Amino acid sequence: MPDTLRGKTIIVAGGSGGLGAATVELLLAEGAEVVVSYRSNLARAQAFEGRATLIQADLARPGDRARLLDQTPSLYGLAVFAGEAARVTDAGNLDDALLRSHLVNFAGPALLAREAAARLRLASTPGAIVLLSTMQAIAVFPGSTAYAGAKTALVQAARILAKECRGKAGIRVNVVCPGVNDAGMAQASIAAGKYARFLSEDLIPRYGKAADVARAVRFFLEPDNYITGQVLTVDGGLTLSV
Ligand SMILES: NC(=O)c1ccc[n+]([C@@H]2O[C@H](COP(=O)([O-])OP(=O)(O)OC[C@H]3O[C@@H](n4cnc5c(N)ncnc54)[C@H](OP(=O)(O)O)[C@@H]3O)[C@@H](O)[C@H]2O)c1
Repeated sequence: MPDTLRGKTIIVAGGSGGLGAATVELLLAEGAEVVVSYRSNLARAQAFEGRATLIQADLARPGDRARLLDQTPSLYGLAVFAGEAARVTDAGNLDDALLRSHLVNFAGPALLAREAAARLRLASTPGAIVLLSTMQAIAVFPGSTAYAGAKTALVQAARILAKECRGKAGIRVNVVCPGVNDAGMAQASIAAGKYARFLSEDLIPRYGKAADVARAVRFFLEPDNYITGQVLTVDGGLTLSV
């Protein structure tokens, strides 16, 4: 087990979710000081009671983002898993889904990343920020305007922040784009057979696991990895075929 994250303070926003929780476990196993933020589901967050600091914060609310950072002194890293599937149940509510997705999947995570970078700069701390987008921001998925539109904007916001932060400050900003994982928000769709053809047509070897994503996020959190402004797609090759 590497020792490079031991004692480093890392916020995992949305760390109570299906994908975020695996990253929290990995970071705890490496001895990091983890702050798990969640929006409303305290029961899920309580899985980390006593092992991580739990902070309720709705990233769409500026005051909550500020409180999350205020309550996290000595920040080194930030991984933002917070997001929603932004499903459109009927064509009539696309505008609602799109505006909500803008707030939850783009504005909240992008603003938290920028605010965390400002604090790192103020503290002269070289740090690492990782944002979670989706392979739907890379490949084109019909029906995904609300979700993928906001997640695509998040990729560009991350690259802009990376460019603004590059140089001696040593603050790195990268993006992980998961594919279809048998965890978190995709689990119900998998169970309903929505993605079964990806397996039957041999487009992917298996559904993704939360641990696949955790390893990619961990990679970007490595203090001395010399990588910034990059997007890593973790989808078993799905992007190559759709
Ligand atoms: N699962 C997949 O296959 C997959 C694929 C591609 C991309 N992703 C992306 O990976 C990330 C994690 O997804 P997941 O599958 O783990 O989803 P999940 O199980 O639904 O977890 C989502 C997490 O985000 C939090 N959250 C949601 N809205 C928030 C807000 N406004 N402010 C603060 N926290 C908020 C939730 O907190 P509460 O539970 O307290 O509400 C929860 O901790 C998302 O950004 C998602 O778009 C997932």
